[in-house]
Amino acid sequence: MRRPVWTVLVVGSALTALVSCTTATGQNEVMPTQADGAAFFAANCASCHGADGRGAGVAAGSLAAPPPDLTTLSAANGGIFPAAEALSYIYGDPRTGHLARVMPEFGGAMAEDLVPVEIEGVLTPTPRELAGLLVYLESIQRVE
Ligand code: HEC
Repeated sequence: MRRPVWTVLVVGSALTALVSCTTATGQNEVMPTQADGAAFFAANCASCHGADGRGAGVAAGSLAAPPPDLTTLSAANGGIFPAAEALSYIYGDPRTGHLARVMPEFGGAMAEDLVPVEIEGVLTPTPRELAGLLVYLESIQRVE
C-alpha cells in the first residue's frame, strides 16, 4: 500500500525540526576564543593584574601581595604554559583556604557550562570562561 503524501510531509518536517535542533545545540558547543578570554580578563582580572597582564592593575598597590606578571608563566616553567596549575589557581583550590590567598576564587561563578579542553594530554571538562582564559593567557606569554 502506498503511503499518503502527508505522512511523507510530516516525517519530512519532523526531520527538518530535528536538524535545526541539532544546529541550535551545536552552536552552544562552539569553543570559546581568545577574544572571549580577553573580555573575561578585562572584566575580572585586569584591575589587579593590569590590562596587559603584567601586574600593574589599578588595585595592585592596595593588595597585601603583589599580583604576579601573568605574561611570564611559560618562561618560569621551562617554556611550557602551566595550564593545569594556572587554571586550578584561578578556579580556586579547595585544599588551600580562602585566607591563604589574596586573589579571589572564580570557580563559583563558572561551574555551569563545561567544554572539553585538552590539559596535559587529557580532555578535561572545563568551565567555558576558564577555557577562554586559557587561550587568552597562552596568547600573552612572552618568550624573552
Ligand atoms: C584582587 C586582585 C586579583 C584579581 C581580581 C585577580 N588576581 Fe590573579 N592573583 C592576584 C594575586 C595577589 C596573586 C598572587 C597569589 C595570591 O596572593 O593569591 C595572583 C595570582 C594569580 C595566578 C598565579 C600566578 C602564578 O605565578 O602561579 C594566576 C594564574 C592568576 N592570578 C590569574 C588571574 C586571572 C585569570 C584573574 C581573573 C579571572 C585574576 N587572576 C584575578 C590578584 C588578583
